[in-house]
Amino acid sequence: MVGVFPEHRPRRLRGTAAIRRLVSETTLRPRQLILPMFVAEGADAPKPIASMPGVVQHSRDSLRKAAVEAVRAGVGGLMLFGVPRTHDAVGSGATDPDGVLNVALRDLRAELGDDTVLMADTCLDEFTDHGHCGVLDSRGGVDNDATLQRYAEMAVAQAEAGAHLLGPSGMMDGQVGVIRKALDGAGYAETGILAYSAKYASAFYGPFREAVDSQLNGDRKTYQQDPGNAREALREIELDVAEGADIVMVKPALSYLDVVSAAAQASPVPVAAYNISGEYAMVEAAAANGWVDRERTVLEVLTSISRAGADLILTYWAAEATAWLD
Ligand code: PBG
Repeated sequence: MVGVFPEHRPRRLRGTAAIRRLVSETTLRPRQLILPMFVAEGADAPKPIASMPGVVQHSRDSLRKAAVEAVRAGVGGLMLFGVPRTHDAVGSGATDPDGVLNVALRDLRAELGDDTVLMADTCLDEFTDHGHCGVLDSRGGVDNDATLQRYAEMAVAQAEAGAHLLGPSGMMDGQVGVIRKALDGAGYAETGILAYSAKYASAFYGPFREAVDSQLNGDRKTYQQDPGNAREALREIELDVAEGADIVMVKPALSYLDVVSAAAQASPVPVAAYNISGEYAMVEAAAANGWVDRERTVLEVLTSISRAGADLILTYWAAEATAWLD
């Protein structure tokens, strides 16, 4: 016997499930989970997204049903993405009141009222024929200020269609300020902004590009952040807060938990993190092969994002995780 050693025994607090529960620091709440959903123009049935098993491009009808179910299950909000049938250089479908995303927002607001928080992606990439998040200049670069004008129009159309929170995700300079001004000017002072403030040029968006039938050739490195940079994330957050963001977001989540943590410490407004398509696909692929336990892995992923400091989490597992947490 070695006598009094070890002096410290952290294992005492791990000995039973009851004591582990007692000292658990991080509790996931269903209400902090937001479900991203896709709706395809003209679809008459939900269409599976191969790289995101379990996630579909909804039809107008199936979206309505799935949204009601998710809200009943207890998710905190819904984030909508539109998949239009046609694309053009300026993304006309984004501002058309009859465009797929605006129609879906109107449907869901009518169906759900204020029972949930209805959010919309405020970005042109789903609607442009070149797949970039903005309009292009004569040399093929993304024209920041011309794009802002389109975002302002898109924001007003989405507010008019019933979105509670708009999610500008294009990483144009000044986008939050321009959208805030446009909303206020059009009588939508109550419509909020969930700003994708620190959004990285990530390889993990791969499956999303399939989910929205992306037309993109190339990458978004002239507007999305370099994965190696942390400092500029804090600058982007500071700017967005100054421009009127109600909530700021870090995206992706898992490879950027240090940024989530720094944002949580620096931000005077709630911080969201987006557990994106590639993070979803990675776990689903491993689970499908029997290499990880699906439910445990998903809950560990979400718990980690919460532990890092995210108040809200956008995740394709939102509805399912909500059921598990019950
Ligand atoms: C841009 C947008 C993207 C995602 C959300 N909004 C794609 C991109 O920036 O390339 C990605 C979400 C995901 O990967 O789950 N409208």
